[in-house]
Amino acid sequence: MALPPSPEKPRIAARYLPQAAGDKRFKILEAHIKKFQHRHDALIEVLHKAQELFGYLEDDVLRYVAAQLKLPASRVYGVATFYHFFTLKPQGAHTCVVCLGTACYVKGANRVLAAVEQQLHIKAGETTPDNQVSLLTARCIGACGIAPAVVYDGTVTPRQSPESALAQINQWVTP
Ligand code: FES
Repeated sequence: MALPPSPEKPRIAARYLPQAAGDKRFKILEAHIKKFQHRHDALIEVLHKAQELFGYLEDDVLRYVAAQLKLPASRVYGVATFYHFFTLKPQGAHTCVVCLGTACYVKGANRVLAAVEQQLHIKAGETTPDNQVSLLTARCIGACGIAPAVVYDGTVTPRQSPESALAQINQWVTP
């Protein structure tokens, strides 16, 4: 008798995430997961690393972690929503994640962040009152060669300055 088709292997499913293919942050996250040998009890550690890399935990990232650790997505969502130190996808229509890792910091990422905070009248971790922009920070997104890097709506953008960051932000909001 023929066996029923086997369910798709989670790790293969993870590869199908388009973001996972070209995004170095997923590679770094995968290396971190490997370090923990894909152990289920590494979930909180892995989510911490993911938040460091992405600035917050988006649906795709949570599904990726679930697949890599071979855990049900519900378990991963449960943990991510239970602990206050995890930030789920922010509510802003746009997201700006400024990398404050060492390489970006020494190249002026703090000045980029300060300029955006001043322009939007919010601090890192906050969303503008009109829900247009959420501003977040990350710690090394794996793009040190193009520091300082900022991620605008999921796109890693190289060599940012206060001026280039404000030019991007001003496309989203009326200054
Ligand atoms: S420190 Fe910013 S990408 Fe590495």
